[in-house]
Amino acid sequence: MNVIDRLIVALDVDSEDKAIAMAERLKSDVKFFKIGLELFSSCGPQIVGRIKETGCGVFLDLKFHDIPTTVVKAAVAVTKLEPLIFNLHALGGYDMMRRAAEAVADEAARLKIVKPKILAVTILTSLDEKALKEIGVGGNSKEAVLRLAGLAKKAGLDGVVASPAETKAIREKMGGDFLIVTPGVRPEWAVANDQKRIATPKAAIRDGADYIVIGRPITESKNPAEAARAILKEMEI
Ligand code: C5P
Repeated sequence: MNVIDRLIVALDVDSEDKAIAMAERLKSDVKFFKIGLELFSSCGPQIVGRIKETGCGVFLDLKFHDIPTTVVKAAVAVTKLEPLIFNLHALGGYDMMRRAAEAVADEAARLKIVKPKILAVTILTSLDEKALKEIGVGGNSKEAVLRLAGLAKKAGLDGVVASPAETKAIREKMGGDFLIVTPGVRPEWAVANDQKRIATPKAAIRDGADYIVIGRPITESKNPAEAARAILKEMEI
């Protein structure tokens, strides 16, 4: 894969106009955008098609977590929107993940479209050891991440969303044939914002990330396209 195919820019804005304006500014340098809960909840499902009209791929970051039947129905519904990637919570359990993976493969075959890759979110990076203990997830969070990544693979998912601190260990444990998408990435020249355990684009790729997700260092830059080009340069290893 070329570096340009490995950069996903998070469109964390609250209107279609802002999202499309940013995608249009970036589309010569960026081929993949992430639509998260804010944008999806503000604009509805048609925002996926609108971003795809710019010629770019979409990672739909909605993190489904519910009973298997409900997640299956939501997963089938988003498959029809043809994102390249969407995700769900591994904490929803093996059965939820397996049934979603099967239903999405069936739906994609029925529609004769490319099956979206399904990623698992393991442990939210916003949860520290204390917060995890409070919700009954004891022990070492890194072990929990690796255990859940293994469960996601067994259930037929394509990969995981992983923090830079976990990327290397997941790559080592899961092997090459498992997607790792890594947010929390900051070039050396950018401010960290509220990200804590950050890595540079180069380090994330070197540790085994297939894709990196970057938002504000690009979208809040005075010249977003120039910032994207600088990051692409840093991704070349
Ligand atoms: O602006 P920034 O580069 O921090 O954006 C990163 C994006 O990745 C945001 O949309 C954020 O929700 C998402 N994300 C993250 N850390 C995670 C999972 C997702 O920053 N552990």
